[in-house]
Amino acid sequence: MSKFRNIPLPPRLIYGRGALNQLDCVLSSHRKNRHSPFIYILDHCLKHKKNISEKLPLDGNDLIVYADTTLEPKTKQVDDIRDRLKSAFRDNISGIIGIGGGSVMDIAKAVALMLTNKGSSADYQGWDLIQNPAIYKVGIPTLSGTGAEVSRTCVLMGPEKKLGINSDHTPFDQIILDPDLIADVPREQRFYTGMDCYIHCIESLNGSYINAFSRTHGEKALALCREVFLDCEDWNPECDEKLMMASYLGGISIATSHLGVVHALSYGLSYLLGIKHGEGNCNVLDHIEKYYPEGYAEFQLMLEKNNIQLRKNICKDLGDKDFETMSKVALGLEPLCENALGKNWKDEINPQVIKKIYQEI
Ligand SMILES: [Fe+2]
Repeated sequence: MSKFRNIPLPPRLIYGRGALNQLDCVLSSHRKNRHSPFIYILDHCLKHKKNISEKLPLDGNDLIVYADTTLEPKTKQVDDIRDRLKSAFRDNISGIIGIGGGSVMDIAKAVALMLTNKGSSADYQGWDLIQNPAIYKVGIPTLSGTGAEVSRTCVLMGPEKKLGINSDHTPFDQIILDPDLIADVPREQRFYTGMDCYIHCIESLNGSYINAFSRTHGEKALALCREVFLDCEDWNPECDEKLMMASYLGGISIATSHLGVVHALSYGLSYLLGIKHGEGNCNVLDHIEKYYPEGYAEFQLMLEKNNIQLRKNICKDLGDKDFETMSKVALGLEPLCENALGKNWKDEINPQVIKKIYQEI
């Protein structure tokens, strides 16, 4: 990794309750012509949420595409949406607007990239492989924690790996952070996604890549996570505002530092078992006290306070080949392992160590 990272962040942001109402105004100057649609990619869970669908400023050929988020987003899912849009509109699309949780943020970013880059999205999983800028893209989160609204990656499950399309062209051009949109997220889902942010902070603040920029954002994000998941007696609208800001700041924190061992092992779980990212992170942190002792202890308090019971023994039916596969995914994420354990990380973590942890999960 070079000494300095030149990080692209979304250049435009609207924050505030009811900010979704500004979307019409935001989009108007970006419509190429009256036949050129905006494509709204919505989480399929939002299909019946009238407080969102009725507020979309649909016009002309604008189209809503519902993305199935039952499982983690896949490269094939992105390619299929891209192919469908290409055959309907060729290159005459004004922009992509992603509305949903981290999965939809990532699908929207990936589709916008794949409308201008040839081949399969699987060809671009990695670092700086994207050749051409994406089309205009807007992110509107309805779940908070992943930081996907601000990141320069879009994490996808490919035929061979779970890995993001990391590039300077990946971030949104515009994000709209409206805390009203996360108000009715189910309690468990809110916890798991919120813990993704908490774990971003733990990994970033305890990593060897930490720096003042990252620490500044990470510490505030961590404080906000503590306020909502430890100090708050009853979830209230102020908690939505805090969690939304925690997600944003946590995302910026990892942009200049890195993730760590929890995410490395969690990627393996998601890849093989399809476990969703936030929950997978929780499953891993619950078994790696050794690497993050303080984060582990605080996480136990958060589980208790929020009355969350993690699933147990999720790896009990797996065989040697399965552990090998998960281990390969985890150890393939070298920067994460190095951030957590330093330059000599291979002395500390290897397939045997990882297998033992997975066996306990
Ligand atoms: Fe994450």
